[in-house]
Amino acid sequence: MRRKLAAGNWKMNGLKAELDQIDALTERHADSPIDLLICPPATLIAAAVSRVANDAMMIGGQDCHSEVSGAFTGDISAAMLADAGAGAVILGHSERRELHQESDELIRAKAVMAHQSGLITVVCVGESLAQREAASTLDIIAAQLAASVPDGATGENMVIAYEPIWAIGTGKVPTLNQIGEVHDFIRARLEQRFGTAAGQSIRLLYGGSVKPDNAAGIFTVPNVDGALVGGASLTAADFSPIIEALK
Ligand code: G3P
Repeated sequence: MRRKLAAGNWKMNGLKAELDQIDALTERHADSPIDLLICPPATLIAAAVSRVANDAMMIGGQDCHSEVSGAFTGDISAAMLADAGAGAVILGHSERRELHQESDELIRAKAVMAHQSGLITVVCVGESLAQREAASTLDIIAAQLAASVPDGATGENMVIAYEPIWAIGTGKVPTLNQIGEVHDFIRARLEQRFGTAAGQSIRLLYGGSVKPDNAAGIFTVPNVDGALVGGASLTAADFSPIIEALK
């Protein structure tokens, strides 16, 4: 069975003082039956790792470069993330796709590099509002999956996050049927491409305005194995009830 995963994406939020939130979460959810992942800004990764005892939580990055090393000012390689103690990296978040013009091909190259460094990749896919209104959601998801998920994806190295762009930070959430339709579709595509065993073992997260008051409902949807949470992952007070709802 797939182990549930509660993942937090802090985006460009968090100074050293916010590491207290990680302490609070690991204290409250020690011996958790589900996996916990927090992806703070890169500046906090090493410090966050040093605060987590007994593998209570995995710390991850929010992006990495597609090359091993070199003249890429401001960028961070997958090996650097691993070296800092990260165990995972988010790739292809819609904010990277939109604001940094990241293509599916680039995301795939980053994922290959991340896997070479032993990182779990959380590859994000999702449609815009215009694409949903044009009834092209599943086509968009299919294209993103095909081009941004590399060969060799397994339940050990890959997590897919479905994040409808129009639901991110807006308070708008798709209906449970809409979430279920996309998650079932992603599951079918993964099984088709990677075979039943691997396709069944890859965890699928929903992301986009997950909050303490809607998490339990979202987690009843088949093929939702957890959540990738933005705003509500910034404080233990908000993230804790989401974790509880997933347990
Ligand atoms: O990666 C998580 C994110 O995009 C969702 O953000 O703030 O809507 O939970 P938020």
